[in-house]
This record gives sequence, C-alpha cells and structure tokens, in this order.
Amino acid sequence: MTRVMSSAYMQWAKKRSGSRYNLATSGLRSYTLAGLPVTIEDLDPLTRAGDYGYPPLTEALAAHCGVAADKVVTAAGTSMANMLAMAAILEPGDEVLVEHPAYGLLLDALGYLQADIHRFPRRAEAGFALDPAEVERTITPRTRLIVITNLHNPSSALASEEQLLAIGAMARRVGARFLMDEVYLDAAFELKPRPSIHLGPEFVVTSSLTKVYGLSGLRCGWILAEPELARRIWLLDDLFDVNMPHAAERLSVIVFQNFERVREQSRALLDTNRVLLNQFLSGRKDLEVRPLEFGTTVFPRLLTGAVDEFFELFRNKYEGTVVPGSFFEMPDHFRIGIGGETGALKESLERLGAALDGFQR
Ligand SMILES: Cc1ncc(COP(=O)(O)O)c(C=O)c1O
Repeated sequence: MTRVMSSAYMQWAKKRSGSRYNLATSGLRSYTLAGLPVTIEDLDPLTRAGDYGYPPLTEALAAHCGVAADKVVTAAGTSMANMLAMAAILEPGDEVLVEHPAYGLLLDALGYLQADIHRFPRRAEAGFALDPAEVERTITPRTRLIVITNLHNPSSALASEEQLLAIGAMARRVGARFLMDEVYLDAAFELKPRPSIHLGPEFVVTSSLTKVYGLSGLRCGWILAEPELARRIWLLDDLFDVNMPHAAERLSVIVFQNFERVREQSRALLDTNRVLLNQFLSGRKDLEVRPLEFGTTVFPRLLTGAVDEFFELFRNKYEGTVVPGSFFEMPDHFRIGIGGETGALKESLERLGAALDGFQR
C-alpha cells in the first residue's frame, strides 16, 4: 500500500482556487475583529501554562456542544481534528468506509495512515442523501471506522438522526467507530441540529469555527469522543503540537462569549446568499441540481461539455473560480460556494452565468 504524502486538493486550494470572482471557497467571508468586544490586552498573556488544552476554551466548547469537558479535545481546525481522531482510532491496514463523493483531504489523511479504504455511494440522483442500506452493503466484520461529512461536502445534504442511528448501530455491531465531520452542520441554522456525539458511544465528531463563522484564521477546531478515546487523542497530539497558539485560544473564548452575535451574522448572510444562488440555479438549463436548502456549497452537474475545460475558461477569461468535481471524484460536477459578501456573490454568479453562456456557444 503506497503511503500518501501530500494532498493534490490542498495544493490546488492554496495555489489555484483564488480569483477575483471566487466561488471556490466553502467558508464564509472572514469575520472581522470589529465584530467582537475585544481589546489587544484581552490577548495577554501570550503564553499560558502547559496543559492538555486551555480550560476556559475546553469548558466553553463543552457547554457549546452539550457534553462533559472530558469528551472534548481541541485541535488546529477540523483538518487536524480529523487527522488526530483517525490516527488514534486506526492501525495501518485497518478497513475504513468512506462516503463517495468525499472531501479529498479525508481520503489523503487516511492514505497517509495507510488505511484500507472502501467506499459507499451517496447518489446524485437522490440528492446525495446518506443511505444506510449502502453502508450495510459495504460494511464487514473487519471495518474499524466509517467516515462521513454532515452537512455533506460538496452537496450540503443533511443526514437525519434516524439515518445516523442506523449506521451507528451497524458500527457498534462490528466494533467500529463512526466519525462525523460536522464542520458545516451549524449552517442548517433553523434546524439547530445537535452534534451527533449524543447519539451513542461509537460516534466521534469533528468540527471547528472555521467555515460557518468565517473564523478560519483562529484554527479553533475540536473533537468530541468518549473520554477514553479523547484521552488517547490528547496523548497522540503531544507528538504534533505542544498546544494551540494562545492568543487564538483567548480569541476563541471571546467568540463563544459572543456567540449569538456571530451566529446571527452568519445566518443573515447565508439566508440572503442562498436566495441569490437559488434564483441563479433556477435560470440555468445547463446545470442539474436541486435548490440549496441550507449550507454553504452546492454541487451541480454540468450537462454539456467538460468541467475541466469550463474551469479554464471561467478562470482565464472571466476571472472566476469554482471547485472542479474531479477533486470530489465526480468530474462532470463542480462546487459553488456562497459564503462571500452578498455584493461579491452577486457579481460572481453573474460572471459564472456569463461564462456558462460563453461555454455553450
Ligand atoms: C468537510 C471538511 N472538513 C474539514 C475541512 C477543513 O476545515 P478546517 O479549516 O477547520 O481545518 C474542510 C475544508 O474545506 C472540509 O470541507
């Protein structure tokens, strides 16, 4: 089994996804310090005593997620949270089931950990719904971990508690864990979905403030797991991190103290932007997609022509970017992100429409 040592998607995201009319980003526009009651003194002292986590942040997260603090591990974003959780659960060669299409970095991290990766489909024709029957067809007594994203990246499909419980029961039956990357879950605002750690001991949850709150720069991520696994993850983290940058930990605590304000701004932005997106999608005969109900991304199929060629045209002639579906193993789709400021999103969708019109000609 060749060990994966890099991520083609991350290289693309860092060097090729940026553009003037950027529809490639899945997170919200950067939140600004002006939105928080914070002074520079609030970040002092810049260094804290060594410990497993910064207790005020761990406690704020425990309260936020409705769990005991011994189930919380902090990590540098959902990316590190996923890596640590998977590394603590898996041995090289262990069997892992991963949804298809999947966020590329999950597969790359599993490739680095030398997992034996098996896939189960989330079908475009079913709106990418999570289907427990597909997991049942794929699971074996050797399965050690099942991995999904909820909301689903790239489609934003929401899995119901019923579906999650059904898969959780399968995981329990074979002694596997069920890892849920919930970095987009809070974007289902009205539904107020609970972190699925509440659904059973086999559930492991990762998330962060990065996407839905436009706070990627704080790298405030976390893992929720049973205390015994949480403890093992903290100990494994000693091999990677001494601790998180303390100024970011302090700022993250301030975010949780003002959470409703930050959340409301995200909700208002996405509510407005979703209307614009759905208007745009309803006018396009060249895209196959359902209207977006919640979330920050949508994953249409381009009905005519090759997405990679369309991407080059959009980028080079119209100064815009989307994420080509090849990064999600579905090369006839592409992902549109709607987390930008509303004015910028409007312009970017106009450019996308012009590029699609130009491409069909
Ligand atoms: C499903 C999923 N998980 C994790 C991440 C990375 O999140 P973070 O910035 O919190 O590390 C992304 C980023 O695109 C993502 O789509």
